[in-house]
Amino acid sequence: MKIISGKDERRLYSDLAWTWPIISPVEDYIEETELFSKLIKEHSTIEVNTLLHLGCGGGHNDYTFKKHFKVTSADISEDMLTLAKKLNPEVNYRYGDMRTIRLEEKFDVVTILDSINYIKTVENLQRTFITAYEHLKSGGVFLTFVEQIAGKFKQNNTTYSTHSQGDVEITFIENCYDPDSNDTNYEVTFIYLIRVGGKPEVHTDRHLCGIFQLETWLELLKATGFKVKQVKFTHSTFTEGESYPMLICIKPL
Ligand SMILES: C[S@@+](CC[C@H](N)C(=O)[O-])C[C@H]1O[C@@H](n2cnc3c(N)ncnc32)[C@H](O)[C@@H]1O
Repeated sequence: MKIISGKDERRLYSDLAWTWPIISPVEDYIEETELFSKLIKEHSTIEVNTLLHLGCGGGHNDYTFKKHFKVTSADISEDMLTLAKKLNPEVNYRYGDMRTIRLEEKFDVVTILDSINYIKTVENLQRTFITAYEHLKSGGVFLTFVEQIAGKFKQNNTTYSTHSQGDVEITFIENCYDPDSNDTNYEVTFIYLIRVGGKPEVHTDRHLCGIFQLETWLELLKATGFKVKQVKFTHSTFTEGESYPMLICIKPL
């Protein structure tokens, strides 16, 4: 069997991007994105029409956001942007890094969802929050959530799932490991067992992500100028008691 290990991290967003709609289907994002849209509308102090989504990936959240808002989205992976444009031709897709992008427009809403965990330092988390603040109209909502919290990390947590499309079958394994709990990084290792027409290949991939104390998120958001409300993000597929802090950040009028 052929085993292909990437030298570069994040092959999922480059040569393996074609697997994204198979291993993480768009239907799986509808429930959460409906919840995000409802919370945005409930918490905004201004009327919400325009939304900026940073780190939009393959556009699976945008597929539902576009039913509620006029959406502009950005990502640093050209391959993921290609998938997103195909899925959502109505969305304005831009190439851009959430730490540094500056568009000539302000929005009623800014979201950063399952991409913010790629921010690996406190300094860059602050820069990312400043990006959100600078693109937001006063009274608007910046919505994000915290997937990993320092002190609550589950070492070696491993999940797997199997998916198929046509003659392609993919078993996708994800392992989270923190080699040093004193720094702000942890590793996510992906293993893909891909069968095309029954012929197997194994691919591996490694992503370095960021992990911070919840207090750090709250302090940085406050220092940026946001007023922050916390709600629990739960989902019908989560295990009993599982939830993530969702941060609803208002830019004061
Ligand atoms: C898990 S995927 C997002 C999937 C997305 N929720 C969807 O609907 O398809 C994470 C994305 O974050 C992007 N990303 C990572 N670091 C980024 C950064 N600094 N700025 C913008 N995008 C970033 C990656 O390129 C990747 O497309």
